[in-house]
Amino acid sequence: MSERFAVILAAGQGTRMKSKLYKVLHPVMGRPMVKHVIEQVKAAGIREVVTIVGHGAEQVKENIGDESKYALQEEQLGTGHAVVQAEEILKNKSGTTVVVCGDTPLITKETYAALVEHHEREGSKATVLTTEMPDPTGYGRVIRNADGDVERIVEHKDASESEKRVKEINTGTFCFDNEMLFQALQNVSNENAQGEYYLTDVIEILKNQSRKVSAFLIPDANETLGVNDRVALAQAEKIMKQRVNEQHMRNGVTIIDPDQTYIQPGVVIGQDVVIHPGCVISGDTVIESNAVIGPNSEITNCYVDAYTTIRHSVAADSKIGKRVNIGPYTHIRPASDIHDEAKIGNFVEIKKTTIGENSKVSHLSYIGDADVGSNVNVGCGTITVNYDGKNKFLTTIEDDAFVGCNSNLIAPVTIGKGSYVAAGSTITKDVPDDALAVARGRQSNKEGYATKIKNRL
Ligand code: UD1
Ligand code: CA
Repeated sequence: MSERFAVILAAGQGTRMKSKLYKVLHPVMGRPMVKHVIEQVKAAGIREVVTIVGHGAEQVKENIGDESKYALQEEQLGTGHAVVQAEEILKNKSGTTVVVCGDTPLITKETYAALVEHHEREGSKATVLTTEMPDPTGYGRVIRNADGDVERIVEHKDASESEKRVKEINTGTFCFDNEMLFQALQNVSNENAQGEYYLTDVIEILKNQSRKVSAFLIPDANETLGVNDRVALAQAEKIMKQRVNEQHMRNGVTIIDPDQTYIQPGVVIGQDVVIHPGCVISGDTVIESNAVIGPNSEITNCYVDAYTTIRHSVAADSKIGKRVNIGPYTHIRPASDIHDEAKIGNFVEIKKTTIGENSKVSHLSYIGDADVGSNVNVGCGTITVNYDGKNKFLTTIEDDAFVGCNSNLIAPVTIGKGSYVAAGSTITKDVPDDALAVARGRQSNKEGYATKIKNRL
């Protein structure tokens, strides 16, 4: 097998996006589009990747990290000129080079692999990935001769009326013989409607040198969508969303309304999970079998164990055990660890807190920086007073404790095992095991006083 390389074009500003954010950093399903491209190219087995950066070079590099090498294109003089920037890294290497635009986030690893395979099997010097677009406006058209062989690619802006009627388009993805690519690029000129050095001209140049040039046509035009503006961005989002959702459904996940369910690629979902409408599930999230998610929940970087229910809630960077019941309207903030069979109810915020097995925080509480044992009942309206304006302090609530409603637990403080906190208490001292702590004003009743006031009015 010959060596394989990839060049990703990501130096453009993306003028048509009308954005301060560089085009290839616009997210599709929550991830910069260029990251999807690199991920799929690498998954197709191409290890040496060179990304051409220019506009927003630093930010683009920061996003991609060490997944790629970089070459700087200081001035954006066209896609051909962009590829030339990779010459220093790739010249004199023999093998196959895949060139991909950073704005085609939907092309799959299977397609990259099939393209390379076709190119190498045919012994071609250049292979262009093409598709037939119902509306090819804006794309480069693939011009074939009477025998059906590819002759050249003409950009929309340079095309004649009859060429514009061609539906087969250049997806912007190619395979080249590496050495011939850089040789041919030396002959590309900028005499065209946009005054740019077009990569697409390499096809005609090689053809004129009687080199073998071919096209690899894929039937699914959705896959090759190039994102040039926000209309296409929304289309890309929709296509990727649908693709991910269909894969989960085929694997045994019920998605009630796939149009209203956003699952980032890479999220792992077990069998018989049910996802109700309005959910956004992203990052490094795993949802185990039979969990019920949503409606309207946002889950990021969480491990959610089997049979757990999360309704109308937000959870991030946390671990949630088996048969846990969360929501409606719960906020699980980072570094929380909710053990099996716990219940976290409505209008409860949990932060950096462990909730032990079978414990309940059912309503209207803030529990932050706390370590809550098992079988604990935290009454409605309980607050861990964890912050003095400068430092955060820990609250410990030991197993089997019962915290009455509307209590303030002023940290650092420990509520002992099996103890009671009377409703309305402000606890400032540790409560021993099995004790009852009462920390509130005593009630006094003034007989007949209400009537006296009413008479006065
Ligand atoms: C390009 C193709 C067109 C194809 C379409 C597919 C050319 C001349 N045209 O057109 O045939 O149908 O993609 O989506 O190749 N870039 C650079 N440096 C530059 C110019 C562009 O890095 O100097 C990068 C951009 O950041 C972008 C990619 O190359 O990621 C494509 O550029 P873009 O301007 O979007 O090309 P299209 O007009 O879409
Ligand atoms: Ca484009």
